Amino acid sequence: MSSEEILQEVAVEVSTCAKCKLCNGRTRAVPGEGNPQARILFIGEGPGFHEDKQGRPFVGPAGQFLDELLASINLQRKDVFITNVVKCRPPNNRDPEPEEIQACSEYLDRQIAAMQPRVIVTLGRFSMAKFFGNEKISSIHGRARKKGSLICIAMYHPAAGLHQASLKDVIRNDFKKIPLIIAEAERMEAEAPKKAPSPSKKLEEPPQQLSLF
Ligand code: URA
Ligand code: SF4
Repeated sequence: MSSEEILQEVAVEVSTCAKCKLCNGRTRAVPGEGNPQARILFIGEGPGFHEDKQGRPFVGPAGQFLDELLASINLQRKDVFITNVVKCRPPNNRDPEPEEIQACSEYLDRQIAAMQPRVIVTLGRFSMAKFFGNEKISSIHGRARKKGSLICIAMYHPAAGLHQASLKDVIRNDFKKIPLIIAEAERMEAEAPKKAPSPSKKLEEPPQQLSLF
């Protein structure tokens, strides 16, 4: 199956999924969307009010800020893929619970395996935890780390910038590093031996701080 077909298959399963209690309150599940061939994947937390209504990721105020951030580095939604750690809205936008994140992780893992992105940008602490463990966002935001043939970079959630004005410029500055990271990922890809290890193996390797960031 092509990456597009796998992503489509995941989206269909997610639309009727009942693997955790978040299915009870959802209007629509939000599988994520974008370019199946994108080399860069953004992972947020979970759908909010507007996303739940429309079935699309980041379409409310945080999404508007994300669009501005993408535009600032000459990217549009059609150039990237955007998804979330949980695909159904937590009631009143509460934090997703560990069991919910665990139940939903199969979908995210399948999306990552299908896309094989070169760069993953985590938005907020829940997606950060998947790639960076217990670190604090205040100390690692904007830092790129190499994991096998993948580069991960942790960012504050765009909604944090809306709630706390001082973070807005921090997020803007962190985003400005993305083009350089994409260039580095492309250089790594060009140099890599043709037969890359499977993505799941790559994620298990300890992260390596990239010296240039
Ligand atoms: N916040 C998220 O984390 N994801 C969305 O899709 C929207 C808001
Ligand atoms: Fe299924 Fe994920 Fe929705 Fe839970 S959040 S019901 S695991 S799609």
